[in-house]
Amino acid sequence: EELGIVAVGFSGGQCKPGVDAAPSALIESGLLTQLREELGYKLYGDDQVHLYTDLVPKDDPPHRNMKNPRAVSSVTRRIADQVYSHAKEGRLVLTLGGDHSIAIGTIGGTAKAIRETVGQDIAVIWVDAHADINTPETSGSGNIHGMPVSFLTGLAREDNEDFFGWLKPENRISVKKLVYIGLRDVDAGEKRILRENGIKAFSMFDIDRHGIGRVMEMALGHIGTDTPIHLSFDVDALDPMWAPSTGTPVRGGLTLREGDYICECVHETGSLVAVDLVEVNPSLAPESDIGAHETVRAGCSLRPFSVDREHTHTISSVCG
Ligand code: ARG
Ligand code: MN
Ligand code: MN
Ligand code: MN
Repeated sequence: EELGIVAVGFSGGQCKPGVDAAPSALIESGLLTQLREELGYKLYGDDQVHLYTDLVPKDDPPHRNMKNPRAVSSVTRRIADQVYSHAKEGRLVLTLGGDHSIAIGTIGGTAKAIRETVGQDIAVIWVDAHADINTPETSGSGNIHGMPVSFLTGLAREDNEDFFGWLKPENRISVKKLVYIGLRDVDAGEKRILRENGIKAFSMFDIDRHGIGRVMEMALGHIGTDTPIHLSFDVDALDPMWAPSTGTPVRGGLTLREGDYICECVHETGSLVAVDLVEVNPSLAPESDIGAHETVRAGCSLRPFSVDREHTHTISSVCG
């Protein structure tokens, strides 16, 4: 199978430096080699970690309370093109971030490509401690990594191309095809948005109550069969015990095994079209460099490509 790789060291969607180093750290610890050599994927891409410094303007004052709006808009626009070209070729696209603002580009790109090639709307499974669905107006931080879902669903809009006006209907997703897993730190304004739009969300409470097996059944049931799936995985969905090196850690998260299980179940559907792995920040390491090392290892383990063939029957019986 063919895999399109997009590596983006972009950190402008939030304020802490270091997420830009994540793609290199993940690649150095062997993620791509494993995909190629152990799992037999054919990898496509330009073998480059894009920093997009040429797209970051010197002067980028806030707009509607958003920080670095021009930089995030032009970088995500470029990412959308890259992801789009891979998806158009029928490749599964893996994007290594970067902060979560890059999902504006990755999901915008797959949504358009899948509409053009398969004629279908994609579904998005957003695995995260946070909902990232603030509008510029509800956001308390002004950090765009807390807003990608509002732009992708059209809940936030802008006509100006410099501020995400390049997002067209074909880049957008429906709130009905969006499912959250792992939520535990949702802002008051975001809770209102989730409620008013009837968005499906499985919080840590739901995972504790039903178990991850049942939650995945319900999440995939909500999406329905034969729907192309884009999996956007924020490493902070994992408990800081497994992934401490991230900008906005929240205690009480997923175990490493639950994270792997989510990826395996999504893979098992056969409908996966793209995966984002974001918010790994190797420079934020509470316990010296052990934290960073563990977080990168956790990131490498989250491969929705690595279902053990011997156990396929077990997994499909669990995931339906
Ligand atoms: N809700 C907070 C905000 O909007 C935190 C968002 C964290 N997002 C993330 N991708 N880690 O600023
Ligand atoms: Mn998060
Ligand atoms: Mn996120
Ligand atoms: Mn085995």
